[in-house]
Amino acid sequence: MDAQQLKLEAARAALPFVKQGAVLGVGSGSTVNAFISLLPTLPFKITAAVAASTASEALLKAQGIAIVDLNSIESIGVYVDGADEIGPSLALIKGGGAALTREKIIAQASEQFVCIADASKVVKVLGKFPLPVEVIPMARMQVMRALATFGGTPVWREGVVTDNGNILLDVRGMMITEAREMESALNQIPGVVTNGLFALRAADVAYVASSEGIRELRP
Ligand code: 5RP
Repeated sequence: MDAQQLKLEAARAALPFVKQGAVLGVGSGSTVNAFISLLPTLPFKITAAVAASTASEALLKAQGIAIVDLNSIESIGVYVDGADEIGPSLALIKGGGAALTREKIIAQASEQFVCIADASKVVKVLGKFPLPVEVIPMARMQVMRALATFGGTPVWREGVVTDNGNILLDVRGMMITEAREMESALNQIPGVVTNGLFALRAADVAYVASSEGIRELRP
């Protein structure tokens, strides 16, 4: 099975979570694109969705699905999103596609967070994938110095501006064993909008595709 087929298989496993008449939370990235491409196979039409990126919004709108403002609803039933790394207790690293802040907001608003990925994303210790951190532009150098005290090497993702108008730093060389504590601590640095650790609001279930089939992971 090639990489695209694995993404499709993981995405297919999330379809039973999509409920008729409910607002759907949709993340961002190539696995989520595969998930969006499968939505027309459902026996009903999704009326409304909240999306984590303008790219996902465009794909959903192209299917005639209305995009709703999170401020106009109280909660989301199910949120489906990919990950850059899936660690112990389904804590994640996300943000490789630059959409981490909106993704974290939607995950927090959702009753169920379903993560979809291919098996290469599953790790024993988080941090091999450089940890994305969204930063207010004027604080870039100050935040880089602060991040270095946590033991990693922050690198500016030059040329990338998030959907929120901010910049991204990718912190390389981290071994994140206490993900919840690290997530909280990094968010205390003035100028950090948020970081790509999803441990305080981890996934509730993950569907991981490999050539052997689909594995369901629970915390
Ligand atoms: C975007 C993300 C994505 O979920 C993550 O990068 C995984 O993407 P892909 O499905 O393309 O591997 O966090 O900000």
